[in-house]
Amino acid sequence: MPPRIFVLNGVNLGTLGQRRPEVYGTLTLNDIESLLKTEFPVVEFEFRQTDYEGEMVGFVREAGGAAGLAINPGAWTHYSYALHDALEALDVPKVEVHLSNVHKREEWRRRSVVSPAVDAVVAGMGAHGYAAAVRYVLERGEGQVSG
Ligand code: DQA
Repeated sequence: MPPRIFVLNGVNLGTLGQRRPEVYGTLTLNDIESLLKTEFPVVEFEFRQTDYEGEMVGFVREAGGAAGLAINPGAWTHYSYALHDALEALDVPKVEVHLSNVHKREEWRRRSVVSPAVDAVVAGMGAHGYAAAVRYVLERGEGQVSG
């Protein structure tokens, strides 16, 4: 069975490509999805975006039977205890991804309330961060390697 990996994108990430390209790059979410599918042809991706916190919590719960999850929560990173709790309850390899280096920006972006509920954090690598997260998930699962 191909590994199924959830790649979840939170609030405002649907506008990637137009939104502050000097910070977030020029790729759209569709571009990032295509890159992942090209780089990891064996993976079955559940690639999603929502601006609704409750819907995101539902997606996280749905990832329960998956090989793992990569999540860019957008601004929810900094204040959503609901997302923290949903991630804490999820027992699969989980990675928090940020396109930008949140530590180099405004003070309030330096704090993530979701980090304590995930296994790893990637920040500042742009779209490569998503690929790194997928590789991590694959390597955590039954000795499978990316490809
Ligand atoms: C972000 C960083 C967050 O602070 C911001 O609110 C985002 C995107 C990133 O990918 O760098 O929406 O998660």
